[in-house]
Amino acid sequence: MKYYIFLILSLILFVSCSTEESEDVKTFQSGQEYRTQIDSILAIMTLEEKVGQMTQFTSSWDVTGPAIDENYKSHIKAGRVGSVFNAHSAGYTRELQKIAVEETRTGIPLIFGYDVIHGFKTIFPISLGEAASWDLEIIEQSSRIAACEASAAGLHWTFAPMVDVSREPRWGRISEGAGEDPYLGSKIAVARVRGFQGDDLKDITTVVACAKHFIAYGEPQAGRDYHTVDISERTLRDIFLPPFKMALEAGVGTVMTAFNEYDGMPATGSRYLLTDLLKDELNFKGFIVTDYTSINELVPHGVARDEKDAARLAVIAGADMDMQGGTYMENLVQLVEEGEVDLALVDEAVRRILEIKFKLGLFEDPYRYSDEDREKATIMKPEYVEAARNIGRKSIVLLKNDSAILPLENITGRIALIGPLGNTNEVLGSWHGAGNYDHAVSLFKGLKENAPKGVSIQYAKGVDVANNDRSGIDQAVALALQSDVVILALGESEHMGGEAASRAQIGIPGAQMALFDAIKATGKPIIVVLMNSRPLAIPQLDEQADAILETWFLGTQAGNSIADVIYGKYNPSGKLPVTFPRSLGQVPIYYNSKNTGRPLNPMEKYTSRFLDESNDPLYPFGYGLSYTSFGYSDLTVEKATYQMDEEIRISVKVSNFGDRKGEEVVQLYVRDLVGSVTRPVRELKGFQKILLEPGQSRFLSFVLTQKDLAFTTKSMEFKAEPGDFKFWVGGSSTADLTGNFNIEK
Ligand code: NOJ
Repeated sequence: MKYYIFLILSLILFVSCSTEESEDVKTFQSGQEYRTQIDSILAIMTLEEKVGQMTQFTSSWDVTGPAIDENYKSHIKAGRVGSVFNAHSAGYTRELQKIAVEETRTGIPLIFGYDVIHGFKTIFPISLGEAASWDLEIIEQSSRIAACEASAAGLHWTFAPMVDVSREPRWGRISEGAGEDPYLGSKIAVARVRGFQGDDLKDITTVVACAKHFIAYGEPQAGRDYHTVDISERTLRDIFLPPFKMALEAGVGTVMTAFNEYDGMPATGSRYLLTDLLKDELNFKGFIVTDYTSINELVPHGVARDEKDAARLAVIAGADMDMQGGTYMENLVQLVEEGEVDLALVDEAVRRILEIKFKLGLFEDPYRYSDEDREKATIMKPEYVEAARNIGRKSIVLLKNDSAILPLENITGRIALIGPLGNTNEVLGSWHGAGNYDHAVSLFKGLKENAPKGVSIQYAKGVDVANNDRSGIDQAVALALQSDVVILALGESEHMGGEAASRAQIGIPGAQMALFDAIKATGKPIIVVLMNSRPLAIPQLDEQADAILETWFLGTQAGNSIADVIYGKYNPSGKLPVTFPRSLGQVPIYYNSKNTGRPLNPMEKYTSRFLDESNDPLYPFGYGLSYTSFGYSDLTVEKATYQMDEEIRISVKVSNFGDRKGEEVVQLYVRDLVGSVTRPVRELKGFQKILLEPGQSRFLSFVLTQKDLAFTTKSMEFKAEPGDFKFWVGGSSTADLTGNFNIEK
């Protein structure tokens, strides 16, 4: 108590004469702010208290892994905890904060974290789905709303965005990221960090973001979660690093380690990754939190003898806060006393953690986020729910639409809604924060409540998502036979996505395809509504359904968002952020692959191909249809030859040839034809989402700089190389309108 009063007094003095109030995103990374205040705090802290700041425990709510120590309240009281996660609500966070502030010797406030991945109470589409909108404004908006709600419920910190690039559909966590592309992933990372953190963390409607998982977690072998990652340094830097770099540039306050190894060393124990690369080379000044018990896991990984050794490795690597493992709490004091760990490392970690607490204003008022009135007034405001509906519909991708069967605009007859995902409110998606199923709009509800006059909708489940019980198929067929059109809601349950939810098969599970066959046999037109967390291999649906809508898991307003698209109130504009394979055997399959020395030639056996499968994906990256049609023409590049430091200007005319307004994602791809190392066949280097009225045309231009063309060269320098380049502009990664330019030596 004594020390707490001392702190307050000194802080009033320091804060009142500091000029840090107007800090912006750039100074956020400086690491110099609050130095004097932090020095004065460090000076009074015991080693045990310092280690306490480096320790994080989960509350008993929402536990997502092995709970090592449930007695977290007594640890808080003893000054052994710097952060609590999975505790929220203004009331509960106040109660815990009170223990830290009033009952510990230093009175240093806790920082409360939580996985606010795609919404807190108002749930937005899963991140992969939201990425399909290619709409940076709405992505920032959803993170902003999530931050407003979470911060009103006492939270200071979200473990998001997950910026792991992934080219692995078997991996359940592909749902949490922005897909397979480093460029799109980087843009989305920035939008999400901005949305969560705003311009100033002192604003109580913001939360600190956390870029995770550092690094390469998205490429586990066979897609099995937590499995080994074995990639080259070049792939690490060119594919997995860019979204982290951009999140850092946007001022992200924290980074989380990954469970996987890189080059034989688990990320959590890797000094190369955490200190040399992240803190030194990329100049990251925030703090690093480990993933859940990942320090302890250095033991089964086989790089530490026991947990003490694991704690030593992690702290030397540069991991500032131990999430849930208790390894720092149990061992760090002794490790310092024995001379195994330098005290300076502990001080450095504590500095980083305290700096974030200062930035959040917690030393000025530790309870500023724990305000019940604000919480009540903020959670699920009507405008947030409306935004979720809009963001949901913008995330839907129209994969097929034969004979323009969609939209069902002027329909008057009977619709049969069939399938296990048709009448469920489990549409929030994995990692749905504190979202409540009671608030979720099922597809059935959405279709009924938004139906045009004279339309009747009946529902039959047919089968479950994942078992082989076919007893409901007859009833579903009978309903189809009495109807004019069938909407068939198929896919995965939401629990098949997210952490520890890898699948060895990526088709439609259970007896759902038997249901599809039975409905197909009725001869009724079929509109498939897919709900799923990953790319699925669905060649039969592609061949036999009349229309397919990819709706991911859209969150609280799912049913209304889908209804808007089905009934034509919104013209779909989503584009795939990830390749959909034809079959599992094609995996990994992604658009920015290498050419190989024997690229496919269908007339030649000895070229890179399968005997029993095409090389082409079912749906390529960047693909998605609209109810209108767009045309591209007049592609020009300002000059044929450029100097390295010049801007390259490319322009194109995009036209809406249909009779309905619509949005199009105009995409620019580039290929560096000859490099000091092999280069991808195409790389996304720009995109713009535009709205065109019927018959309207617009000229768009893209500007490329050497930064856009940079890659990790043979000498491991990150730079562009002179030479010939080819580019394409169009509505997907298979765009064929093309041009060339050259960069002179
Ligand atoms: C483990 C997950 O890998 C990570 O993403 C998450 O933030 C933590 N658990 C905390 O829930």
